[in-house]
Amino acid sequence: MPTRSALPGPGDVFITRQVHFNAGHRLYNVRRSRQWNERTYGPCANPNGHGHNYVLEVTVRGKPDPDTGYVLDLGDLKRIVEKAVVVPCDHRNLNKDIDFLKGVIPTTENLVVAFWGRIAPRIRAGRLHSIRLYETPRNYAEYLGPEGTP
Ligand code: NI
Repeated sequence: MPTRSALPGPGDVFITRQVHFNAGHRLYNVRRSRQWNERTYGPCANPNGHGHNYVLEVTVRGKPDPDTGYVLDLGDLKRIVEKAVVVPCDHRNLNKDIDFLKGVIPTTENLVVAFWGRIAPRIRAGRLHSIRLYETPRNYAEYLGPEGTP
C-alpha cells in the first residue's frame, strides 16, 4: 500500500460534518472572587446557568481515496463525533455532568480544545484539521490542534 503523508499538502480536500447539541453552562472561575466573575462574565456567571443550542463543525483533510473517492466517509465522521461529543454533552450541564470537562470553565474556547482531545484519537493521525463550535449564530471558536496547522 502506498504511503500517504498525513501532513496537509497540495491536493488536500477538506470535508466537514456539522452536528448539533443543546447544553447548559455557567461561566465562573472558582479561584476568583464573585466580583471578578460578575465583572468578567456578566450574566454568564449567573448562579443557575443558562443554555445554548451549540453547533459543532469538525473538518478532516486528506487526499480522496482512489477507490472510494472519499477523504473519510462522512457517515463514519458523524458517528465518531456523536460518540465523542454529542452523546456525552447533549442535554447536559457542561459544568457538572461531563467527566472530561471536570475543572474546565466551559467557554467556547475551552470546549473546542476539550473536544479536540475527544475526537483526535478517533481520526487517522494528522487528518483532523479543525474543530469549530458555534455558541450562537454570531459567536464561534475554532481550534486547529495543539500544533496548529501550517
Ligand atoms: Ni453561555
